[in-house]
Amino acid sequence: MFTKETVKDAKVRNQNVLVRVDYNVPMKDGKITDDLRIKASLPTLEHLIKKGARRIILISHLGRPEGERVPELSLRPVAERLAELLPDKKVSFIGDVSGPDVEEAVRKTPAGGILLLENLRFFPGEEKNSSEFAREIAETTGADIFVQDGFAVIHRAHASTDAITKELPSVAGFLVEKEVSELNKVVTSPAHPFVIIIGGAKVDDKQPLIDKLSPMADAIFVGGKIAADGYKSDNPKIHVCDTFVEDGEGGKRDIGEPCIEALLKLIENAKTVLWNGTLGETEKPEFRKGSERLADFLGSHPEINSIICGGDTAGFAENYLKDHPDHSFSLISTGGGASLELLSGLDLPGLDSLDEKY
Ligand code: 3PG
Repeated sequence: MFTKETVKDAKVRNQNVLVRVDYNVPMKDGKITDDLRIKASLPTLEHLIKKGARRIILISHLGRPEGERVPELSLRPVAERLAELLPDKKVSFIGDVSGPDVEEAVRKTPAGGILLLENLRFFPGEEKNSSEFAREIAETTGADIFVQDGFAVIHRAHASTDAITKELPSVAGFLVEKEVSELNKVVTSPAHPFVIIIGGAKVDDKQPLIDKLSPMADAIFVGGKIAADGYKSDNPKIHVCDTFVEDGEGGKRDIGEPCIEALLKLIENAKTVLWNGTLGETEKPEFRKGSERLADFLGSHPEINSIICGGDTAGFAENYLKDHPDHSFSLISTGGGASLELLSGLDLPGLDSLDEKY
C-alpha cells in the first residue's frame, strides 16, 4: 500500500507546482543516450497540465558537479529533449535555480507551461540539504505545492528531496508512487516461486539486497563480474555461475552456456523475477548472450512479474525492447541506488519527508 499523498489527491488548478524529477540521464558528447527517465516523468507532467496547473517548474540534478558550475552538466539539452517529447506544450529552460532571472522566467512561463531550472548540484546547498537553499527555490518560483517524482533520487537527503518539504505541502508523483508500490510488493508479498538474479560488478552494493530478500526468495542466481570474481555462499538457495565466456586473455566476460541453461531452468515456473545487474559485459555484443537470453525469456512471459532494476540493467533492458518491440517487462525501474536501497530495506529520506495520507 502507498501511504503518501499523491498528485491525484492534490489541488493543483491555478497553482505553481514545483516538481522534483530525476533527469540524471546518460550523455555522450552533449547528447542524451537514454531518455528513460525523461519519458518516465511524463505521466505526472501531463496530469498536472490536464488538471489546470498554472505553471510547472521542474528541478533536477545531473551528474556530480559537487557545487560547481560544470557546463557539460547543464540541463539545457534535457529541456530540449523534453520539448520534443511534449511537442504541443511550451517547455523552456533557465540557467539558474533562484534570483531575479528565474523570477522573470517564471513570470514569462505561460499558463500550463513548463520551466526547467539549472542543475541543482551546481550549488553546494543542494547536497548539504540546506533549508535556506530550498526556501530560495520555493520563494523565487512562487511555488504553492511540491511534487516529488524523482524516484531515482529518493534515497538522498538533499535540499530538493528533504529540506524543500518543510517549505511546501509535499506529495508524490505517479512515478514515485508506481515504483515504490511495485518494489514494495516484491519485498513484502512476492508471488512464488520468487527468483532473484544478481549480476553486475559491485558485490558490496548487492549483498544487503541478497541478505534482506534471501529468506523469502525461492532461489537466487549470481552471475556477472561478481560471480567471475569468485563470489561464494553456503546458502543452498544461492546458485553462483561457474562457467564463463572468456576473452583472448582468459578474462571472464559473460556467463557460459551451462549457466544460461541452469538459469532458464531456475525461472521456468517463476511467478516473480527480480533482476539486478547485467550477467556479462553487455556493452560488447560478444559478451551479451547471457543477458539477452534472460531478457528473451522474461520479455516473452508476461505472466511473470519481471522487475528489472539497476542503472546498467535498466539501460540494457530499454535497448533490448527497442530491438524487440513485441516483448515487455513488468517494470524497468528508473532507480539505480534508490531501488537497491528500497529493496534492501534502507531508509528513503525523499519518501519519508512527503505528507502522509490522512
Ligand atoms: C542515480 O542515477 O542513481 C540518481 O540520479 C542519483 O544520483 P547520485 O548517485 O549521484 O546521487
